[in-house]
Amino acid sequence: MRDETILKVENLEKTFGKGNKKVKVVNEVSFQVKNNEIFALLGPNGAGKTTTIKMILDLVTPDKGEIEILSMKMPKYKKDIMREIGVILEGSRNLYWNTSLRENVYYFANLKGSGMQQKSAIICAISTSPKILILDELLLGLDILTRFEIEKIVKELREVSTLIISSHDLRFIEKVSDRILIINKGSVVVEGTTKELIGKISFAKYRLILNNSGNREYLKEIEKD
Ligand SMILES: Nc1ncnc2c1ncn2[C@@H]1O[C@H](COP(=O)(O)OP(=O)(O)O)[C@@H](O)[C@H]1O
Ligand SMILES: [Mg+2]
Repeated sequence: MRDETILKVENLEKTFGKGNKKVKVVNEVSFQVKNNEIFALLGPNGAGKTTTIKMILDLVTPDKGEIEILSMKMPKYKKDIMREIGVILEGSRNLYWNTSLRENVYYFANLKGSGMQQKSAIICAISTSPKILILDELLLGLDILTRFEIEKIVKELREVSTLIISSHDLRFIEKVSDRILIINKGSVVVEGTTKELIGKISFAKYRLILNNSGNREYLKEIEKD
């Protein structure tokens, strides 16, 4: 079913730290992902994208909120849910892989550098034919040619799975996604289809630049516009 809801996130919240060092890094975040779409979490570094993804996977325990995946509540049905999910986390610390496959693919990946490693991570993530693929900051550290290849692969993956991707890279998200949720400092800024947002996004774009002073590569890409 095309419009079936695959993932439902409601009022997710997370605070890290104690006392006067407390920081709410995810604040009342809600969204839904539909069957066979490419749904993007877009926001500057530190926005709370990875934390949100880790809460969806029950790798970080939320302070508040509800998560429902394929109509099953997380964490109650975690075991059943994780059977349907392929994951590539930021920094390639990947989970839920078939071990022997991982060792084999890693062997080749180690010979060929970071681009091959991300591509083999994708192969591993889809090897169990998951209904949902979660790809966090897939382009991190990749050269421009590998980025193009990964973009192409991501678009093709729509045929086999529902995708949730996160990135701070507007250009990448714009090219591959169907729908975008922009988050900044833990809160949802705006949500919409990629088509409707791209026209309106110039303001959001400047916000992203201001908050992204640490990432030169991204700044360069924006300046070219
Ligand atoms: N385990 C943790 N303990 C304390 N702070 C954390 C932890 N994980 C993430 N943070 C902080 O939470 C904020 C959001 O981080 P993250 O979710 O990784 O953002 P993003 O993925 O959008 O770059 C950042 O300020 C980060 O430093
Ligand atoms: Mg992140």
